Amino acid sequence: MDTHYVEFLGMLVRWLHIVAGVAWIGSSFYFIWLDNSLDSPAPGSEAAKKGVGGELWAVHGGGFYNPQKYLVAPAVLPEKLHWFKWEAYTTWLSGTALLVLVYWLKAGTMMVDGRVRELTALQAVGIGATSMVGSWMVYDLLCKSPLGKRDGLLGAVVFLLVGALAWGLSRLLGGRAMFIQVGTAVGTIMAANVFFAIIPGQRRMVAAMKAGAAPDPQDGRRAKQRSVHNNYFTLPVLFIMISNHYSSTYAHPQNWAVLVLIMAAGVAIRHFFNRKHKGVYAWPYPALGAVLLGVVAWWTQPRVAPLPPVEGEVTFNRVRAIVGQHCIACHSPQPTFPGYAQPQAGVLLHTPADLVLNAPRLYQQVAVTRLMPLGNLTHMTDQERAVLAAWVRGGAKVE
Ligand code: HEC
Repeated sequence: MDTHYVEFLGMLVRWLHIVAGVAWIGSSFYFIWLDNSLDSPAPGSEAAKKGVGGELWAVHGGGFYNPQKYLVAPAVLPEKLHWFKWEAYTTWLSGTALLVLVYWLKAGTMMVDGRVRELTALQAVGIGATSMVGSWMVYDLLCKSPLGKRDGLLGAVVFLLVGALAWGLSRLLGGRAMFIQVGTAVGTIMAANVFFAIIPGQRRMVAAMKAGAAPDPQDGRRAKQRSVHNNYFTLPVLFIMISNHYSSTYAHPQNWAVLVLIMAAGVAIRHFFNRKHKGVYAWPYPALGAVLLGVVAWWTQPRVAPLPPVEGEVTFNRVRAIVGQHCIACHSPQPTFPGYAQPQAGVLLHTPADLVLNAPRLYQQVAVTRLMPLGNLTHMTDQERAVLAAWVRGGAKVE
């Protein structure tokens, strides 16, 4: 297919992914908030007699709402029951499609980083896919094991495993791909929780009621545990989804540890909201989150390894030759690099005027973060970096 249409499709899928994700995470936030905010009905009241364990009153969009949560289930099952599952499935399906379009189909450039490990594109995709399926299997076993009865400990072990996954993938894939694969592994756990645990449990509860039996409260408790996990996963996953804009995080030499700290901050901040909605004192948690993020801010500031001194004269011709050899394939109006239809990131470097215009960004990418050329595919040397850096520092002159 024409690369333009692939890119356009990618844009539509990303749009869908964000919309579905907003709906899913929005309902996750809402229901956990609802659960934490319920008040028990007065003993002997109408609600208590019906088996309502908690309720609240809310006003929104010009109407008054009175959601009630039953201790186990209502005496009679209503005709129409909302399930809240398509938000999750659509988010996972569109997210996986996006992963394939943006990363897997271009694994050679988007996932493999020769400085980390020389892999084939197929190996990189295999590692990504295995990490998603494997994470779910390990997580699910843990929840079903005796550990599953100890909420706090289980949560800590799951967090450590996600950290271990980040560490393991950081030995195999480029930083950006490592981040996104950790995010998709956690996203897969979240969606699979809905598909394999929460919804089947609810189905059993409904089926029991239809058969005139009492639903097994164990099903409700299990679904709740998974749903709480999903709630704590939200902020870490959302960070990962925006992380590709912030190279200081994923390109850090200890990028896995940076990710672990940011995820821990996300969990702490989520915990703050969950406790606060219960009316419990919670301020140490956002304070912890802020400290962790402060540490990350300090730790990820660019520490630039010095470039070698320039050999010979820095002329514009030399600069053009280097850029021509290492950048133009991806940064001209019609890129020649396979799979690219647009100048990447909208950055053009093919005319003197474009080079001057983009000199500060070029400096950042070539001499500071050293993310360009992408994955150092063209094997740019430090001497060549030094020439470009000296040219920018000397005022980016065109003669
Ligand atoms: C193999 C293709 C490829 C090559 C070669 C390449 N780039 Fe890039 N470049 C990209 C892609 C893809 C992006 C977008 C990255 C992103 O979104 O983070 C990008 C982004 C950029 C940006 C924008 C970064 C920002 O966010 O400010 C600059 C500047 C840049 N490249 C400069 C260069 C320079 C200079 C060279 C040559 C030394 C180069 N690139 C070589 C693919 C390439």
